[in-house]
Amino acid sequence: MQCNPVKEWRLFSLSGAVLGALLAVGAVPTAQAAITGPLAQTVEQGKQIFMHDTFGGRGMTCASCHKAAGMGTTEVPGMDRKGPSLANAAAVFPRYKARVHKVITLEEQIRGCIHGALGGKEPAYDSATMRALVTYVSSLAQGQRIDMGGAFK
Ligand code: HEC
Repeated sequence: MQCNPVKEWRLFSLSGAVLGALLAVGAVPTAQAAITGPLAQTVEQGKQIFMHDTFGGRGMTCASCHKAAGMGTTEVPGMDRKGPSLANAAAVFPRYKARVHKVITLEEQIRGCIHGALGGKEPAYDSATMRALVTYVSSLAQGQRIDMGGAFK
């Protein structure tokens, strides 16, 4: 098939008009499609780990600090300060972490919480546990714009 610039431009203008009309009525969906199938199963496994796994540490779970299954505030027991939720965490990594003077990934952040915050043993990078946790935390940011280096909010 030959490329027809005039026809393509017409199509392009038409889709622009349709998009404009949708924007005008506020009908453009912001969230992505629903998570289903095997991906949904892994999200659920990750949520169970987030809620219940202590990683052999001091008896806390991710949910002890990251309230409402990660969608609420971050509250470290015994400390007054409240931090933001994990709602956009997956959208702000990789990012520079001043404390360790390097760019870290979401996996490294989660492992840091397992080691430092939970006092536990980090699962291997390629383990089913790590994969499920990263999948769950990423699912919380479904529909958020990627903002590498952005703030935890
Ligand atoms: C003792 C409290 C505590 C526990 C338990 C804990 N965290 Fe955290 N987490 C924090 C605090 C405080 C921060 C923010 C400071 C930092 O970056 O270390 C944080 C930051 C994070 C971030 C980065 C958020 C962002 O946008 O920068 C992720 C992701 C995260 N935690 C996931 C987890 C997961 C998954 C677990 C369980 C394996 C967990 N955390 C367990 C306290 C905790």
